[in-house]
Amino acid sequence: MIHWYYKSIAKPLSAVMPALSFSSIITLTLGFSLVSNVVMAGTVSLPRDTLPSRITLPNVSPANSVLANRGAYVARTADCMACHRDDYSGGVPIETPIGNIYSTNITPSTRYGIGNYTEADFKKALQKGRAPSHQLYPAMPYPSYHGMTDKDISALFAYFQTVAIVDKPPEKTTHLPFPLNIRSLMLAWNVINVPSTENRSGLTKTQQRGEYLVNNLEHCGTCHTPRNLTQGLDKDLYLSGAPLGKWFAPNITPDNDTGIGLWSEMDIVTYLRTGTLDKRAYAGGPMAEAVAHSTRYLTDEDLIAMASYLKVVPAIKTDDYLIPVNVSRLPQPVSDSITYDLLEQKDYLAQAKAETVTSVDSRISSHDVNDSKSPKDLYLIHCASCHGVDGYAQPDARYASIVGLSSIRRVKPDALVGVIAFGAKGAFNTAPKMPGFSKDLSPAQIASITNYVRVTFGGLPNSDVSAADVTRVIKEKS
Ligand code: HEC
Ligand code: HEC
Ligand code: HEC
Repeated sequence: MIHWYYKSIAKPLSAVMPALSFSSIITLTLGFSLVSNVVMAGTVSLPRDTLPSRITLPNVSPANSVLANRGAYVARTADCMACHRDDYSGGVPIETPIGNIYSTNITPSTRYGIGNYTEADFKKALQKGRAPSHQLYPAMPYPSYHGMTDKDISALFAYFQTVAIVDKPPEKTTHLPFPLNIRSLMLAWNVINVPSTENRSGLTKTQQRGEYLVNNLEHCGTCHTPRNLTQGLDKDLYLSGAPLGKWFAPNITPDNDTGIGLWSEMDIVTYLRTGTLDKRAYAGGPMAEAVAHSTRYLTDEDLIAMASYLKVVPAIKTDDYLIPVNVSRLPQPVSDSITYDLLEQKDYLAQAKAETVTSVDSRISSHDVNDSKSPKDLYLIHCASCHGVDGYAQPDARYASIVGLSSIRRVKPDALVGVIAFGAKGAFNTAPKMPGFSKDLSPAQIASITNYVRVTFGGLPNSDVSAADVTRVIKEKS
């Protein structure tokens, strides 16, 4: 059900300090529309009428106070559900290098939850990682929440009083071995790593709001910023991309070659609201959860503020170059009727398979494949039923189109190999999930498909991922 994180990075001090990660299942319940006049963000510069519309915010009730309803929105922006579950009953394991740390029940249950918390206790837990009786591990993102305003904390506190009580303990609780179970060790860690970000000067009012959202509420950096030796966030590499268990959270600084410098503010807003950006990016895995639980509920003003801020953070160039989309190399949709008509597509697929494609495409390396199937055959057999023969997917079944995605245009194929090997359990897409192929296909076959996908749907001039690369990625990410 859950997973992620830092297994794949060098972790010298990780034996002492936890990193964080999280996940959870999503069930969306659509409810009342937001009645309060949610946080405003200053001037708005984008053409509002072209924005995809916002999903109605659940967890808001006309029976609750304006303050509590504002808190429901703050809880979305801070994505508490991602780790504490939709009903806040906790028990979600956060994978860290030192073992799983389980989230706790934060419903107003006096026995198992935070029913006895005063607002001051709540504030301390969020900003300082200090629960009334013990120090918290930074798997709870207090290094980010450290900068949360008193106003937002009051609203959150009021909201949590209205949450339905779950009067039982989480299914699982944290048991770390000695000496990691000594929670006061975190006090030393906090001195180095809290707060986890620095505020920039010279920002507009809108950008300041964006900075607050990105750094303190949405805690985007917990996934997108690499870790330092103590597993705190590395401020020098702010938002420049980090491995995330089986995934990779890419560079989201405005660097043109390795980050999202070529994205317009509107692109960023569209991606955060819908989880997709046509022929550019798709929010899978952990990002899908962030979109599903949190960013798609944000107001236009808040999304625009984040986009505006992300355009002015320092651009950092990494070695993970993005190969620009060459539209002339991308495939044309096979035909509208085939792409949109599932049955016809099925026939077309059967026909394509029967023809046993043997033509050799010199751009696609298929070395080491020890059976007779060409890369294209392998793709048609294993992938085309969901992603379409042309890569444009089957919209009726709501599968992802993979043509032109940034995840398949990176110089480092690791993230793509990871998705093919382990599948995509992201919760944003309601279609059946993408299975992993590490058990059914050999490393050579996965390499072959990876090369096919990068060249055919990514428009790369060539690709020569080898079986050894695949074996390495699988080993690193398992
Ligand atoms: C990235 C995952 C994550 C997110 C997001 C998160 N939490 Fe937590 N939270 C945890 C974990 C894990 C613990 C338990 C830590 C421990 O045992 O040291 C925890 C503990 C807590 C506690 C202490 C409860 C107690 O007395 O033991 C409170 C209060 C809390 N969270 C509130 C919140 C609120 C409110 C939000 C949203 C603003 C939130 N959390 C978001 C992971 C998360
Ligand atoms: C739980 C971890 C996590 C959090 C929190 C998170 N992201 Fe992501 N993000 C990812 C992962 C993983 C990907 C890669 C998704 C894929 O390829 O399917 C990603 C992809 C992206 C992309 C697409 C980049 C590209 O080149 O394709 C953008 C933009 C982005 N995130 C912005 C944000 C912003 C802004 C926030 C905070 C509001 C945020 N993310 C929070 C994990 C996260
Ligand atoms: C059962 C249907 C299914 C099959 C079979 C399948 N996929 Fe997927 N794939 C999906 C879905 C659904 C997503 C969207 C992921 C999500 O919801 O998070 C996806 C996402 C992707 C992505 C985008 C990852 C990202 O987040 O950027 C790539 C690339 C991909 N698949 C490649 C493949 C390849 C290559 C194969 C064959 C080896 C394959 N898929 C087989 C359903 C499938």
